[in-house]
Amino acid sequence: MPSIHSVLPVLALFAMSAQAANDPNSYAETDKVRVTDLALDVHVAFQSRQIIGKVELSLDWRDKGARELKLDTRDLSIATVELVDAAGKSSPAKFSLGAVDKILGTPLLIEFGEQMPKVRVSYATNPNASGLQWLGEAQTAGKKHPFLFSQSQAIHARSWVPLQDTPAVRFTYKADVHVPKPLRAVMSANNNPDATVGSGEFHFEMDKPIPSYLLAIAVGDIAVKTTGPRTAVYAEPSMVDKAAKEFEDTEKMIVATEKLYGDYRWGRYDILVLPPSFPFGGMENPRMTFATPTVIVGDKSLTSLVAHELAHSWSGNLVTNSSWKDIWLNEGFTSYVENRIVEAVYGCEQGDMEDVISQFGLKKEMADLAPNDQLLMLAPLDGRDPDEALTDVAYIKGAWFLTFLEKRYGRPAFDAFLRGWFDAHAFQSVDSDVFITYLQKNLVDKHPGKTKPAELDAWLKQPGLPETAEPAKSARFDKVDAARTEWLDGKRDAAALAAAKWGTQETVRFLEGLPEKLDAKQLTELDGALHFNGTANGEIAQRWYPLTVRSGFAAARPSIEKFLIGIGRRKLIMPTWEALMATPDGLAFAEGVFAKARQGYHPITTGSVQAALDKAKKKN
Ligand code: BES
Ligand code: ZN
Repeated sequence: MPSIHSVLPVLALFAMSAQAANDPNSYAETDKVRVTDLALDVHVAFQSRQIIGKVELSLDWRDKGARELKLDTRDLSIATVELVDAAGKSSPAKFSLGAVDKILGTPLLIEFGEQMPKVRVSYATNPNASGLQWLGEAQTAGKKHPFLFSQSQAIHARSWVPLQDTPAVRFTYKADVHVPKPLRAVMSANNNPDATVGSGEFHFEMDKPIPSYLLAIAVGDIAVKTTGPRTAVYAEPSMVDKAAKEFEDTEKMIVATEKLYGDYRWGRYDILVLPPSFPFGGMENPRMTFATPTVIVGDKSLTSLVAHELAHSWSGNLVTNSSWKDIWLNEGFTSYVENRIVEAVYGCEQGDMEDVISQFGLKKEMADLAPNDQLLMLAPLDGRDPDEALTDVAYIKGAWFLTFLEKRYGRPAFDAFLRGWFDAHAFQSVDSDVFITYLQKNLVDKHPGKTKPAELDAWLKQPGLPETAEPAKSARFDKVDAARTEWLDGKRDAAALAAAKWGTQETVRFLEGLPEKLDAKQLTELDGALHFNGTANGEIAQRWYPLTVRSGFAAARPSIEKFLIGIGRRKLIMPTWEALMATPDGLAFAEGVFAKARQGYHPITTGSVQAALDKAKKKN
């Protein structure tokens, strides 16, 4: 019988030993003790830009000899630590903060004379906490109230709560959150869309065990609009109607996913639309996805973002990578499920176009990656920032591998297999080795002759793309490609391109197939007919502006400046920053724009732009 392990003996051994080891991106010693529940009581202080309060952690001691708890923190001020006994009586504990590590933060070491069921830590966050963004009134749409939001993935929860910040540990949580009276607080928990705002007091409960990177909070002038029996959109008042319209298909998406992979297990599924500085497209915080406003373009063409974050309710939130080297188990599976949802709700043509664009992006990104970073199963991330190890390999090569399996085994068998994977590992944190064993037993061995061990080995263990990676195809894109060629050959004018009334994906395809540079006449013609400068569609902007920069087309600069200052979503703006930084003149312009943009950026985005600047300056 073909066995994956028979061709992967070294890998299997390595994976087994890695499973027992602690997560290198956390100080937690999970073999000794694990946090099982967390009770927060915190004040959100906009004046000082701090979260101040206490957290009570319930502990499951696994090693009877252990007398120490190591928590992750980053830039936290710890006021007191108390041990709490079974009767609820507290006593002061001895504690100390270890050395500061640039990537990991600072371990908080708490001594126990004897093992106690709970520990209580009083603390305050730093105004520059890496996992929080504090927005002044001016940075909101309403301009009247400040706004706060968290982004904990991958290892930023430790900057606003002292905890075991590893996805290997799951805990339930509750929270009492005190905010300025007119504001609403929401969390990755049981938000009540009918809750009255005005008391400044909010209580939350998450009764399902989640990993720390899914801990989330936002506070602001947030309105709610219901979009379905278990869905609503939360946003600043001026955005909420538009957002609700854009995301009106959310319930349809949930139904489609349930049909494929079983019940949605989290109760409500709400979406919080954040101000434009949110550094990501979306974040799958349980019960409340956090989303960028940049996908609200009026025609639902970018709502695959919702499909993606919703899909995480199965792949990632229910079955979770136990450390960040295995993030393809979260993002690859989710990108695959995302495409199945898009196909079910919007049809095959839409799904195919999105697949072609994703695969184009993967190939482009992979060309610049070291072979080790082209692997689905990364080496343990010792000494590496997990945010920086994340590439399209996890997302798109991961999804592509599952599509390969789907094609070989057929949808009936593969769909049942994937549903079984989610069911068998629900509310568990697992690594790639667990998946490989499950795959072998429940798909490969059950349906012999469909895949060869060497083919699986190529997907799981080799860099690059295997020979068996079948490219996605789109008939609509074939037409776009033909139109582009005719335009480049002078046989069609730009007005005729505009007349085709392309959707977002077709326009993206058009731009991606253009040569590295165009001349000013061509760019002027395109912009005149298709109005790219100043576009509100970030997917178009992130491809158009770098083209203008490479082509030395200065007429786009005012629009570029507005784009880079107005949006903080990294994926959309980094290509333009990088294109600018490639020439001395562009670099000077970029530095000027960054000086204005940075005060509005999230710490994660500031970090990315600063790193690109440092690199560019070294080169020049
Ligand atoms: N979980 C990710 C976002 C993330 C990953 C944050 C790693 C921090 C570290 C989220 O589900 C995601 O993948 N978002 C994408 C959108 C998606 C449509 C591909 C994004 O933000 O671009
Ligand atoms: Zn994702």
